[in-house]
Amino acid sequence: MSSTTPYSTPAKLAHWLIAALILAAFPLGLYMHELSLSPEKLRLYSYHKWIGMTVLLLFMPRLLWRLVRPPPALLPGPAWQLKLAEATHWLLYLLMAAVPLCGWLMSSAKGFQVVYLGLVPLPDLVGKDQALGTLLADLHSSLAWALMVLIVVHAAAALKHHLIDRDDTLRRILPFVKLPSGETRS
Ligand code: HEM
Repeated sequence: MSSTTPYSTPAKLAHWLIAALILAAFPLGLYMHELSLSPEKLRLYSYHKWIGMTVLLLFMPRLLWRLVRPPPALLPGPAWQLKLAEATHWLLYLLMAAVPLCGWLMSSAKGFQVVYLGLVPLPDLVGKDQALGTLLADLHSSLAWALMVLIVVHAAAALKHHLIDRDDTLRRILPFVKLPSGETRS
């Protein structure tokens, strides 16, 4: 597979859709948490949970797709950068699942069943346990912050490739961008 081979269309779609959902869920989570109890707060909690559960829902086919259709190889670079990129990608996958899963566990432990889109009641993952709920809330918050830090590092690396190295790392995952196949850039 040529190093400038673009990502497949499903992989590109999943990448940007999940990124947008995470970037919506994170500030919403911070904002709603600060509100005093009101119908608006409860509504925002529901939206937050639905966005997060959608991330979890999309995560599964995305992971399967990656395993069945591995992404194009990383563009050449120093060995430590390639190792770091690989590790970051897998950690991103881990957190992409762990953050919403932890949110779901927390809601169950706090005694609030998640009703996806207000239509589909999801099973509680654990029984009601306030102490566990508080612990999971802290964990959910810490993992969400770790996910955001990784996303910033990941985006900064992509921009560095684009603006400084001037290679196709970013362009090959952008939608609507055609790469001349087989072309290599130095
Ligand atoms: C990628 C998905 C998600 C991200 C990035 C995310 C992020 C966050 C953030 C940043 C907060 C604020 C934490 C704080 O202020 O310390 C938060 C709070 C919260 N999240 Fe999520 N979340 C996600 C998914 C979910 C899911 C799927 C659920 C439940 C089904 C959920 C339930 C909650 C709840 C209940 C709170 C409020 C906790 C409290 O008030 O103590 N989250 N989330």
